[in-house]
Amino acid sequence: MVKADTSKFPIDGNAAEPDLAELILNARTSKEHVETVLKTDDRVIARVTDGIYRRPGSALRELISNAYDADATEIFIDTDAPRFGTIKITDNGVGMSPAVLARLLEHIGGSSKRTNEGSQIGVASSSDSTVSNTKNRKLIGKIGIGLFSVSQLTQRFQIITKIKGEKYRTIASVVMKTYTEDDLKTIGDTKKFESGRVTIWSEDAEDAESHGTTIILNDLKPQAKDTLRSKDIWATIQESQAEDDGLVALQAPRFHIGHIDANTGELITDTARVPWNLDDDPEQKFKKLVDCVWDQLKHSDPNPKLSELFDYYLQMVWDLSLAAPIPYVNGDPFDIPFGNTIRAFELANSSKKGAPQAIEVDVSSKKNLREAFQIKDDLNKSDKFEIFLDGLKLARPLKFTELPATTHAIKEPLVFVGKCLQPFKGVMREISGGPLEFDAYLFWTPKIAPREHRGSLIRINGASGTLFDVTFMRYQTAEMNRMNQITCEIFVKQGLDGALNIDRESFNVAHPHYVFLSRWLHSALRQVANMQKKVASELRKDNISQRTDDTIGRLQSFVEREWEVIGNDPDESPPPIVFSDGSHENSSGSPTEQGAYVFDRSTLFSEIKTKRKTSTSDSSLKVFEEKLKSIAQLLAAYGVFDNMTKSRQERLLKSIGDIMATESEE
Ligand SMILES: Nc1ncnc2c1ncn2[C@@H]1O[C@H](COP(=O)(O)OP(=O)(O)OP(=O)(O)O)[C@@H](O)[C@H]1O
Ligand SMILES: [Mg+2]
Repeated sequence: MVKADTSKFPIDGNAAEPDLAELILNARTSKEHVETVLKTDDRVIARVTDGIYRRPGSALRELISNAYDADATEIFIDTDAPRFGTIKITDNGVGMSPAVLARLLEHIGGSSKRTNEGSQIGVASSSDSTVSNTKNRKLIGKIGIGLFSVSQLTQRFQIITKIKGEKYRTIASVVMKTYTEDDLKTIGDTKKFESGRVTIWSEDAEDAESHGTTIILNDLKPQAKDTLRSKDIWATIQESQAEDDGLVALQAPRFHIGHIDANTGELITDTARVPWNLDDDPEQKFKKLVDCVWDQLKHSDPNPKLSELFDYYLQMVWDLSLAAPIPYVNGDPFDIPFGNTIRAFELANSSKKGAPQAIEVDVSSKKNLREAFQIKDDLNKSDKFEIFLDGLKLARPLKFTELPATTHAIKEPLVFVGKCLQPFKGVMREISGGPLEFDAYLFWTPKIAPREHRGSLIRINGASGTLFDVTFMRYQTAEMNRMNQITCEIFVKQGLDGALNIDRESFNVAHPHYVFLSRWLHSALRQVANMQKKVASELRKDNISQRTDDTIGRLQSFVEREWEVIGNDPDESPPPIVFSDGSHENSSGSPTEQGAYVFDRSTLFSEIKTKRKTSTSDSSLKVFEEKLKSIAQLLAAYGVFDNMTKSRQERLLKSIGDIMATESEE
C-alpha cells in the first residue's frame, strides 16, 4: 500500500496531483494499491457560496440556524425593510473564539460541527459532537457553507463576535469575491483561488460576561433589494393595469410593505398595508399576520393563497416561521386539548394481512394527542429560542383550532398519528445511513388554509428548509380533492439528514431514508383516504330525496349530482355561493357563509337590473339569481375559480349573467 502525501493538498491542490498521478503510473507495474484522500476543488466552493441559495430568505434561515446551533436564546433580525440597505442579525449565543473564527474563515465547506475538532473548540458539546455546546440541541449545521449564503445578498459583511469571560470582541470584515464564468476558466489555469478577503481586529469590551454574534450585511446587492421589495410583482401588476386592452387587471397583493413605482423605480411606502398595528407587541403582530390568512375564509376567499395575499417580504417572513425550530403560534398540535372536537386515528406501519389500516383511538378523555399517542417533544420546551424579525416574534404559523365551518358531512377534523423506527438492520451503515426514526401527523379537514400548507412538511430535529411538499413525496393518486384536504408534518428524530441536499431546500430522493419515508407516507395517505371515506359514508344522509320539487330544489339537485359525477367527495356539498349586498366582510361569521364564495350583488347585476326593471317580476329574478348561483357552483366544482382572483371570478360571473339576461329578453 502506498499513501499519497496529503499534507500538500490543502495549500496548493494542484501541486500534489503529479504525485498522485506518478503513484498511479508507478503502481501499474508494481500492481500496488494507491490510497489517497478525496479533496475539494476550490471552485466548488465558488459555486456553493455564489450559486446554490437563490432566495434572500435562505440566507436568513441559515443565520437563524447558526444562532440556534450556537445556543442562542434570542435572535434579532433587522432587515431595514422596506429599504433593505443594511441587514443586521444579532444573537446571544456562545460567540466565536479566535480559533472558531479562524476555522470558519479558512475552511469554507469544512464545518467543525459533528467532528471531534468541533467538540474541542466548543462549537459542539465536548461529549457529543452532534449536539450544541451547552444546551444539547441537535446541530442543524454540518457542511460549513451556510454563513456564506449571505453572498447572494451582499459582497461585504462583518462578523462581530464575543465569547463569555473575555474583555475583547473580535471583528472580521469580509469582502467576498464573485467570479464570472470567464474568471473560473482562467482560475483553472492559474491554480490560485481566492474566495474573498478578510480583515480582522479586536476591540475592548466593557462587559466581560456578555456573549453573542452580530452579522452585518452591508450594501445589499441591487438584485437582492429588488427581490425583497417585490419589484417583479409590482412591475407585472403595473403593466397589466396600464394596458388599455379591456382585460381585467392583476390585483396588488392584499398585504404588502409598499409598492415600487414602475416608472421611477421608487418605493412608495404610503401605500403599505400590513395586517398589524405599529404599536402592537411583537407577538400580537405576528398573530395578526397569521390571522389575516384565516380571515380570508370568512370574507370571500375560501382558498386563500399566500402568493396572492402577500408580497415577497411577507411571504419570506411566513416561510422563515415555518422553517425555524420555534413553537407554534396557537399551540403544538400534540399539546392542544382537543377533547372531542376531533377524531383521532393511529396509523399502522405494517400489517400481517392485507393493507395496513388506521385504528380509531378515543382521545376525548386524554389530555392531548401527546398523551394519547405517547409522542416525544419535537423541541425541548424549556429550551427558549426566540426570533424577532423586524419587530415580529416568529412562531410556526399553523392553526388546528377555530377552523372555519364547512358544508362537509364530516364536521370534525380527522387526525392521524404515526410513529416509526426503522433500524435498517443488516444493511451497512454507509449505505443505509443508520436508523431512521420519526413521528408524524396527517390532519384532514375540508379546507386547508393557506393553500401552500397542503402537503407534507419534513422537520429534521425541529428545522426545515423544504416547507410543504404538495406532492406528498411524489404520491401517485387520482384523489386530488382528498389530497388537497390534508396537511402533514413529519418530525424526524434520527436519520434523514444525509438525504438533505446541501442547500437544505431539497432531498436526494434516492437516499434509503427518503425512499423509506416516502413509502411510509404513501401508505399513511392510503390509510387516511380509506378511513375518511368510511367515516363519511357512516355519516351519509340522503339530502336529495328531501328536496322540494320547485325549480330551486331541482337546480340544487342538479348541481349536487354533477358535483359527485365529476369526482368530488360525495359527502361534501358543492361550495355555497352567496350574493351579498354591500361589503364582502362577513363579520358575523355565520356558518352558512363560511367557506362560501361571496360575490357582490350590485356588481353582478348592475346592468341586468336596470334593463329588466319593467319586464321582470321578483320571483323570476330570484330564479335567475339561483341559476347564476348554480353556474357559479359548477365553475367552483370544476376548479375554474381556483386560480382566479376575486375580481376575475366576479367578472366571469357577471358576463355569464349578462349573456343569460340577453337570451331571456328575446
Ligand atoms: N451565530 C454564530 N454564533 C457562533 N458561531 C457561529 C455563528 N455562525 C457561524 N458560526 C461558526 O461558523 C461556522 C460556519 O458556519 P456555517 O453556517 O457556514 O457552517 P455550519 O453551520 O458549520 O454548517 P452548515 O453549512 O451546514 O450550516 C460554524 O460551524 C460555527 O462555528
Ligand atoms: Mg450553519
